Amino acid sequence: MASIRFEKVFKNFKNLGVIKSLDLTVDDGEFFTFVGPSGCGKSTILNMIAGLEPVTGGTIYFDDAPVNELTPRERDVAMVFQSYALYPHMSVAENLAFPLKMKKQPKDLIEAEVVRVAALLGLEALLGRRPKELSGGQRQRVALGRAVIRKPEVFLMDEPLSNLDARLRVEMRAELKRLHRQLKITTVYVTHDQAEAMGLSERIAVLKEGEVQQCAAPHEVYARPGNIFVAGFIGSPSMNFIDAQVRGKDPLKLEINGVEFNPVVERSPESDYVTAGIRPEDIIASKKETTPVEALVDLTEVEGPVTWVNLRWGNAALRVKAAPEEHLKPGDKVFLKFSGEKIHVFDREAGLRL
Ligand SMILES: Nc1ncnc2c1ncn2[C@@H]1O[C@H](COP(=O)(O)OP(=O)(O)OP(=O)(O)O)[C@@H](O)[C@H]1O
Ligand SMILES: [Mg+2]
Repeated sequence: MASIRFEKVFKNFKNLGVIKSLDLTVDDGEFFTFVGPSGCGKSTILNMIAGLEPVTGGTIYFDDAPVNELTPRERDVAMVFQSYALYPHMSVAENLAFPLKMKKQPKDLIEAEVVRVAALLGLEALLGRRPKELSGGQRQRVALGRAVIRKPEVFLMDEPLSNLDARLRVEMRAELKRLHRQLKITTVYVTHDQAEAMGLSERIAVLKEGEVQQCAAPHEVYARPGNIFVAGFIGSPSMNFIDAQVRGKDPLKLEINGVEFNPVVERSPESDYVTAGIRPEDIIASKKETTPVEALVDLTEVEGPVTWVNLRWGNAALRVKAAPEEHLKPGDKVFLKFSGEKIHVFDREAGLRL
């Protein structure tokens, strides 16, 4: 098994800089995810690790050995793609056996490995079937099995769950986690789905236009987003951003729509205006007058145990949370309760966390 280290790695396609100086290490045995919007360079990073795309500059190391010059085969990585590309004319067992056949392994070893991997992924009953006789989730498991059977140094997964329906996706997430716990193979995963990234990974790197915005454990990125981009990208529904006026710098006092807040920050703002970020789950709307902050309901959306409410508070349009028992409807007057310590503050110039 191996750690993967990027040292000043960048990638240009012609004149287009797609990855800009990547410096980070994926630890040995870690489940690490690159997450970001479409086109930010996620697949390019995986392809550079796999050796399918050369780097334009910098060095990729597996442990302490540079791999820039190695072919994909020599790097010993297994890649699972979004389209799982099984061989349609082969049975599940033959699909699983294929990578070992290519390595010219003895027949009895191949048979034993197929049985082992089938048991690992719950495919025992399906070994005789062809891919077209399988559900999407079952095909995905076969594709994973075909990667697992090689016992690679590194697993690379490029949005492997994006073809599955929502329920299967959640099931397969659990499957991937279990598999990783058992095999402990260094895994680099790529997705644009922040919930998937948060749920699966030990650490995530949030990418925007080829640059890492923040790299940390999911709970850290959620609780302390480093800038406005990360704050808006991680978490669902997305964080609210509101203009706030600075009324005192030490300790920080903010005024929003005539209400004063005292959020905790690590450094004082330079200017007199900042952007306050508040997650919808950290503002509770209620018809009961428990606070002096009054707002008007625009729209509600019931989502099982919570109701999300779009509302107007002064000049600000916010999304907030309410108990379903409130039965809020458009036009209702509500009162807002903020968790003051959950207010994130960003400077207006660079959008960095204060
Ligand atoms: N072979 C190529 N030649 C030129 N430009 C490319 C090539 N491959 C990718 N790009 C560009 O590089 C950028 C990053 O592409 P990449 O496929 O890595 O994005 P991604 O984050 O995987 O996106 P998605 O979530 O849509 O899969 C995009 O702007 C894309 O158009
Ligand atoms: Mg991609």
